[in-house]
Amino acid sequence: MAFPAQFLLLLPLFLAGTQSEAKIYDTVAELPALKYDFIVVGGGTAGNAVANRLSENPAWSVLVIEGGPSNVGVLDNQVPGLAVDLFAPSSGFTWQFNTVAQPFADNRVMGYPRGRILGGSSGINEMWYTRGSSEDFDRFASVTGDKGWGWDAMFPYFLKNERWTTPADKHNTSGQFNPKFHSTTGMNFVSLPGYGWPTFPRIIAAAAELPDVFPFVEDYNSGSPIGLGWVQSTIGNGTRSSSAASYLGEPFISRPNLDVLVNAQVSRILPSSKDSTHFNQVEFSQDFTTLFVATATKEIILSAGAIASPQILLNSGIGNKTYLESLNIPSLIDLPAVGQNMSEQPLVSNSWFVNTTETYESFNNNDTQRDIDLAQWNATRTGPLVSIVGSHVAFLRLDANGTALGNFEDPAAGPKTPHLEMEFAVIPIPAGGGNFMSVQCVVVSSASRGSVTLNATDFSPFSHPIIDPATFASEFDFQAMKEGLNKVFQFMSTSAWDGFVMRPLDNLASALSGGDAGLEAYIRANAVANLHPVGTTAMSPKGAQWGVVDPDLLLKKATGVRIIDAGVMPYVTSGHTMAPTYAVAERGADLVKQTWA
Ligand SMILES: Cc1cc2nc3c(=O)[nH]c(=O)nc-3n(C[C@H](O)[C@H](O)[C@H](O)COP(=O)(O)OP(=O)(O)OC[C@H]3O[C@@H](n4cnc5c(N)ncnc54)[C@H](O)[C@@H]3O)c2cc1C
Ligand SMILES: *[C@@H]1O[C@H](CO)[C@@H](O)[C@H](O)[C@H]1NC(C)=O
Ligand SMILES: *[C@@H]1O[C@H](CO)[C@@H](O)[C@H](O)[C@H]1NC(C)=O
Ligand SMILES: *[C@@H]1O[C@H](CO)[C@@H](O)[C@H](O)[C@H]1NC(C)=O
Ligand SMILES: *[C@@H]1O[C@H](CO)[C@@H](O)[C@H](O)[C@H]1NC(C)=O
Ligand SMILES: *[C@@H]1O[C@H](CO)[C@@H](O)[C@H](O)[C@H]1NC(C)=O
Ligand SMILES: *[C@@H]1O[C@H](CO)[C@@H](O)[C@H](O)[C@H]1NC(C)=O
Ligand SMILES: *[C@@H]1O[C@H](CO)[C@@H](O)[C@H](O)[C@H]1NC(C)=O
Ligand SMILES: *[C@@H]1O[C@H](CO)[C@@H](O)[C@H](O)[C@H]1NC(C)=O
Ligand SMILES: *[C@@H]1O[C@H](CO)[C@@H](O)[C@H](O)[C@H]1NC(C)=O
Repeated sequence: MAFPAQFLLLLPLFLAGTQSEAKIYDTVAELPALKYDFIVVGGGTAGNAVANRLSENPAWSVLVIEGGPSNVGVLDNQVPGLAVDLFAPSSGFTWQFNTVAQPFADNRVMGYPRGRILGGSSGINEMWYTRGSSEDFDRFASVTGDKGWGWDAMFPYFLKNERWTTPADKHNTSGQFNPKFHSTTGMNFVSLPGYGWPTFPRIIAAAAELPDVFPFVEDYNSGSPIGLGWVQSTIGNGTRSSSAASYLGEPFISRPNLDVLVNAQVSRILPSSKDSTHFNQVEFSQDFTTLFVATATKEIILSAGAIASPQILLNSGIGNKTYLESLNIPSLIDLPAVGQNMSEQPLVSNSWFVNTTETYESFNNNDTQRDIDLAQWNATRTGPLVSIVGSHVAFLRLDANGTALGNFEDPAAGPKTPHLEMEFAVIPIPAGGGNFMSVQCVVVSSASRGSVTLNATDFSPFSHPIIDPATFASEFDFQAMKEGLNKVFQFMSTSAWDGFVMRPLDNLASALSGGDAGLEAYIRANAVANLHPVGTTAMSPKGAQWGVVDPDLLLKKATGVRIIDAGVMPYVTSGHTMAPTYAVAERGADLVKQTWA
């Protein structure tokens, strides 16, 4: 990102805020101890929530070990409108992963960023706050045999995480959400868009023209998401609210029993000398050469996310025995499901030229305007940079008589769960000039199952894992995407767009004029993974032959280890995964507390 030097110099001055650097250690030499009651691996979305809740008990000591740097003073990590810069590989705040070539998507390798900064993916993501459907959680309860994962039991955990607040522009939000479903006293700020773009009234008008396909939904976070409504995002006072800003903000980070070590990558968990199924040591490095070991006297909590938690388990000899032995990794616990069953979502982004200069490109392609907008943000936390430039979302069912549902088993959690999501956002920036609007289409209730494995040709606990989201491996997902795009095109041909939308981008234009074959080629050429992996360390009933953790999130066939992150969800929720991950973390922390009470 091209950033003017004067801003960089001023950062420490104007960003010194609610989070203190004092308890965030850069080197292991500064760390006061190497023995704690609890060690949380990964200071991300879930990990920081867990660390906060466990350190509420002054008698317990908690260490967080994070692979990335501190978030304190990182401007892009605070300004919502700069999110796109953050998850670009050049930002330095992602793990820079790629997928393996995807055979059903033109054999393309896709970028696969994960947050690598205190706050994890909550510190770099697009901040959309969507909980999914009540049926998504009721299915978690039925497949695990634990009612505690059902919607009614989980709802208080969503509220415990959420701190609803007025948007930056303080506009009248009546009718744009329902306060009944929200809390104003939790941890992460959530708000409606704080800056108005010219697309907003047109999106509402287009939906009103097609009420059978796009009914208005006042609040998609009620458990019944179907319809088109206003986007809620984890932003407060025009600023990103990451898990580091919330759960590790003041006064929490100053607790004497909570320490955070950054720039430290965990390679393995190790068993105690007396019992090879009891894990109490965490091995890590700051330079990929010198290894350190920290000891957890109560539990190790793995919160490295759906990609890294299974990788750490496999590195440690916990996984499919036959597979691990083929890599010469001694098998400690035979658990074939580790890294398997990844549940992800495919996304296709569609862009049109529009007849206005008031779009994201106004500041993204113009350094002068960006300086002006950034100065406004800095001075008053208002202006175009306060939001993610995404404004509305539509959660839709597929047609019961369509190709997808007519020919395949329905992968959705139930009849009020959406198959499709449309995101009205301007994140993709086509090369070249012009002003654009974009509608992204996602198959949120997907059937494909991918995996995370180790790189056999270059095995080291520090190398990148092999990530296979299995995009369109299930034909259902492909057929659902085709139907979804046709709904997008129907939406964009309403009269609400007359005089505003000029023409589709070239690749989309050829899809639109190319019939069925043109549309299929367009999908295979443009689909990407939605960066919502779950299921790689799935929970399953106690004693089940499949799955990685029990419903209390304890690692199967072992003691001392719990996994608390997105990976434990056995199916992807029918939306984005951050809010569900926070709720899982809040309940997970309660489960740990119950064990040690
Ligand atoms: C670019 C992007 C955009 C997204 N947009 C949205 C969105 O708008 N809305 C939404 O709901 N969801 C979104 N998501 C998904 C959402 O952010 C994730 O599902 C969620 O944050 C996952 O939380 P987690 O705690 O499981 O993992 P993370 O938040 O990724 O935390 C894992 C942490 O572990 C650390 N770590 C990893 N490996 C190691 C290691 N070996 N040693 C030490 N530390 C390690 C990482 O650095 C990270 O801090 C997006 C994701 C991405 C990547
Ligand atoms: C906000 O809008 C609602 C409905 O549009 C209206 O009834 C209400 O009076 C407005 N509130 C304020 C403070 O303007
Ligand atoms: C919001 O941001 C402004 C500008 O930095 C600051 O002055 C104000 O204190 C902040 N308000 C809250 C509630 O954090
Ligand atoms: C374990 O891995 C081996 C070798 O990769 C594979 O053949 C086998 O099917 C796997 N076992 C299970 C139960 O998944
Ligand atoms: C994948 O998950 C399903 C349940 O969703 C389960 O039946 C199956 O055994 C799992 N597969 C593996 C390899 O764990
Ligand atoms: C860039 O922004 C400045 C300030 O608004 C404006 O004067 C200028 O015309 C813009 N340049 C382009 C190429 O749009
Ligand atoms: C940002 O705001 C602070 C005061 O809050 C001010 O000192 C600083 O100069 C501002 N920086 C820029 C680049 O406007
Ligand atoms: C499915 O039904 C809807 C109305 O219920 C109709 O508009 C549509 O054309 C039908 N599609 C097919 C493929 O028959
Ligand atoms: C696996 O390691 C080899 C050797 O370093 C490398 O060429 C390859 O790109 C790696 N594969 C992936 C998917 O990262
Ligand atoms: C763009 O808008 C201007 C002014 O509103 C109008 O004159 C012009 O015809 C529009 N262009 C297109 C291609 O619609």
